[in-house]
Amino acid sequence: MTTGTEPTDTESHPSSGGVRTGTRAAIAAPHLRTDRWWLAPAVTAAGLLAFVVYSTWRAFADTYYYAAPYVSPFYSPCLAERCQTMRAGPNADLFGSWWALSPAIIILIFPLGFRLTCYYYRKAYYRGFWASPPACAVAEPHKKYSGETRFPLILQNIHRYFFYAAIVVAGILTYDTVLAFRDENYDWGHMGLGTLVFLVNIVLIWAYTLSCHSCRHIVGGRLKHFSKHPVRYRMWSWVGVLNARHMLLAWASLLSVALADFYVYLLASGVFDDPRFF
Ligand code: FES
Repeated sequence: MTTGTEPTDTESHPSSGGVRTGTRAAIAAPHLRTDRWWLAPAVTAAGLLAFVVYSTWRAFADTYYYAAPYVSPFYSPCLAERCQTMRAGPNADLFGSWWALSPAIIILIFPLGFRLTCYYYRKAYYRGFWASPPACAVAEPHKKYSGETRFPLILQNIHRYFFYAAIVVAGILTYDTVLAFRDENYDWGHMGLGTLVFLVNIVLIWAYTLSCHSCRHIVGGRLKHFSKHPVRYRMWSWVGVLNARHMLLAWASLLSVALADFYVYLLASGVFDDPRFF
């Protein structure tokens, strides 16, 4: 209880704010942790930064994204007419010849939005890049905290809609994986190292997508009695198993999608030929 003349916590610690207000105990030390709490956010920030740099380069490269029969997941579906000059076979030319930028930019907004608004990635980049907070029991340096109640962070609430888009994207990448069972002459019944790369990637993409917290709520939320909805309860249980590994799947699928793209890049740029199993 203050008398009105005593300094508040914020005044006692003028360089701090946020959680250092109100009823928090007046502890002079910034935090009491003695472990290497900074390691996890530092590694997270480095990993995310590496992916951002790589994906930005590839998205704007506008080349080496198709090596028969594989199309890079960064460029699929290829919706611009200009894709036809680089990808054999039909494209859905929803965007005509007027689209002069990289076709990847048309489609990447959906998987990017899905990951940017993901509950796990939010925690990861809030901690890694904004130190908000940097770790458990370590006060954040910001003066104010408004959570996700104002623009632009209030847009995080549209995550569920990005989940719907992510389902469509995963379906398209599944189609691409089926097409990967052709050879370079488009004959069916073949398999190469690229097919394997695409298979691993699509399994991880689906596992990450279905482990989404929004997915878990969609299949099992807003029910009063699971006993009256046994099918939804079963589905909720399955999604729960994946959901418990959401962080792991977030990183594994991020790595696999980058590797699948890089594999196509290596083939398309002529670094080596796709080893064929049969
Ligand atoms: Fe991570 Fe939905 S919460 S993808």
